[in-house]
Amino acid sequence: MIIETERLILRPFQEGDEADLYEYLREPAVNCFANMKLNSPDEAQAGIKERIEKAECCFAVTLKTTGKVIGEIEAFPESSEPDGGKDSPCDTFSPCWMLNAEYQGKGYAYEAACAFFDYLFRQKGARRIYAYTEDNNLRSQHLCEKLGMRREGLFIEYVSFIKNPDGTPHYENTIQYAILKKEWLAHTASA
Ligand SMILES: CC(C)(COP(=O)(O)OP(=O)(O)OC[C@H]1O[C@@H](n2cnc3c(N)ncnc32)[C@H](O)[C@@H]1OP(=O)(O)O)[C@@H](O)C(=O)NCCC(=O)NCCS
Repeated sequence: MIIETERLILRPFQEGDEADLYEYLREPAVNCFANMKLNSPDEAQAGIKERIEKAECCFAVTLKTTGKVIGEIEAFPESSEPDGGKDSPCDTFSPCWMLNAEYQGKGYAYEAACAFFDYLFRQKGARRIYAYTEDNNLRSQHLCEKLGMRREGLFIEYVSFIKNPDGTPHYENTIQYAILKKEWLAHTASA
């Protein structure tokens, strides 16, 4: 699947993307991606293999002009009926988005996320999309709000991705945002 926007092509990862992936994941910008850190070009190669296997829901965000991979966006289907068994619809998605720091502040994340939400709602059967973001991640919160997502709640000391210097868990305050398909359709119709 290839998604085209004004300035971007969202496409599956492919062999050859290793250097671009390494560029933005050698030092993950936020604690919630600490476990995605790549320590070497070899790890980047393994990272590309993993992403190729998840091609249907994991997209490389590339610039139309140069083909460079400037980040990624992904989300996997989850059931909204935890006890519904294997036939329950997987209509809930939680996106993960990240851009190379050099390419932030240019509207690329919003452009990619709009197209990705449209894909999830119109082609992948999404009913609800929710996002978690840490309370100090103002850029991600701003992106959620531009996308028309509602702030649903703040979870205090909800999760720990890294340790404090003394080895104890460093807990983060997490904000949850969400948008339903009907809200997305109304939001995009009025835009
Ligand atoms: C979160 C993240 C993806 C947001 O990226 P971003 O580049 O800040 O987001 P946007 O695409 O919305 O662009 C931001 C700004 O670019 C500006 N911009 C510059 N040129 C533009 C253009 N041609 N068109 C549109 N906007 C443009 C806009 O003014 C916009 O700011 P505004 O909304 O206040 O007007 C990015 O900060 C990131 O990768 N962070 C690290 C990973 C992360 O935190 N992921 C989320 C974990 S919860």
